[in-house]
Amino acid sequence: MIPVLRPDIDEQTTQELIAVLKSGWWGQGQKTFDFEKQFAEYVGAKYAIGCNSGTAALDLCLKVYNIKGGELITTPFTFVADAIVGEWNDMDVTFADIDEDSFCLDPKSIVITDKTKAIITVDSHGRLADIDGLRDKFKGLIIEDAAHAMYTPGAGKKADITIWSFQAVKSLPTGDGGMITTNDDKIYERLRTLTWLGVEKNTFQRVGAKRYTWDYDITQADGLKAYMNDLTSVIGLGQLRRIDELTAKRRAIQAVYNEAFKDVKEIKIPMYSHTCQYYTMKCERRDELSDYLASNEIATSVHFKPLNMMSYWKKAEKRELKVNNRVWKELLSLPVFNTLKWTEVEKIIRCVKEFYAR
Ligand SMILES: Cc1ncc(COP(=O)(O)O)c(C=O)c1O
Repeated sequence: MIPVLRPDIDEQTTQELIAVLKSGWWGQGQKTFDFEKQFAEYVGAKYAIGCNSGTAALDLCLKVYNIKGGELITTPFTFVADAIVGEWNDMDVTFADIDEDSFCLDPKSIVITDKTKAIITVDSHGRLADIDGLRDKFKGLIIEDAAHAMYTPGAGKKADITIWSFQAVKSLPTGDGGMITTNDDKIYERLRTLTWLGVEKNTFQRVGAKRYTWDYDITQADGLKAYMNDLTSVIGLGQLRRIDELTAKRRAIQAVYNEAFKDVKEIKIPMYSHTCQYYTMKCERRDELSDYLASNEIATSVHFKPLNMMSYWKKAEKRELKVNNRVWKELLSLPVFNTLKWTEVEKIIRCVKEFYAR
């Protein structure tokens, strides 16, 4: 079966990972700090703080800005992480509608009230969210979820704070992991303690210290156990080193699919994405096409079944979600990943065209 997504590691990174495994230190350490530093440079932020997931990173963004209660506006067209962190921080979650082509939150559909305390907007499928449009309507905290926008120029530049995800099928996978980027010195300092249950000195610094290596202080009961470790960070460093190669392959596959499907009348090719986290096209008879491809050993997926279709999250559908409720039924994600062979791409295209020619 050709999967929708598959992570890839090169020989150099494998050797570097083995070296960390044998080094006697697997926790948060120099590899984590190197990854944070290089990641911050790569996305053009002053600081990057490694986390053990994108979800933890989102939760900590609300916590570090002391957001507790009030309304969180987010998109229903995403993974549940963006909504659940609102509930974890006693917020009332409201979904707003998405744009027809980018699938990002549509600023026109946002209704700000006295209760609105934060917006989480997603760079959906690697396309930049309209943060200027949101900012025109809302002066409070805007969190950018750039989990899909690893290679997209401009991601992480306009919101108050940004999160990233290195989960196993993302475009910079480390197994699991996340990052928060910020330009704010105080937010950065506080995030350091919040990623370790409020502890004010990390183990690595304690081990490196000359005296009283056991000593540290706790002055708050905030935070999570959420920092990154050297095993995942060394994988992240390897992926970052190969970023041009990984990006180029995804974009090349996107271009080949676009060219192949541009004249298929049952398909609408997706809006361009620099990262191409998913190649998600609009197509007729979506479920039948998915079954047909599966019978030819080609996996597909739907990104996303919207959150307001989930039993628990129906309650957050308080306003019209016309675009969201319509477009997801037409969407199908085809395989796109670095090690996808060109013969496999050809097979996928052939099978899609065969299906519509039947
Ligand atoms: C848009 C988006 N945001 C956040 C997350 C959560 O990231 P993680 O799986 O690293 O917790 C995901 C994960 O799948 C996602 O797709």
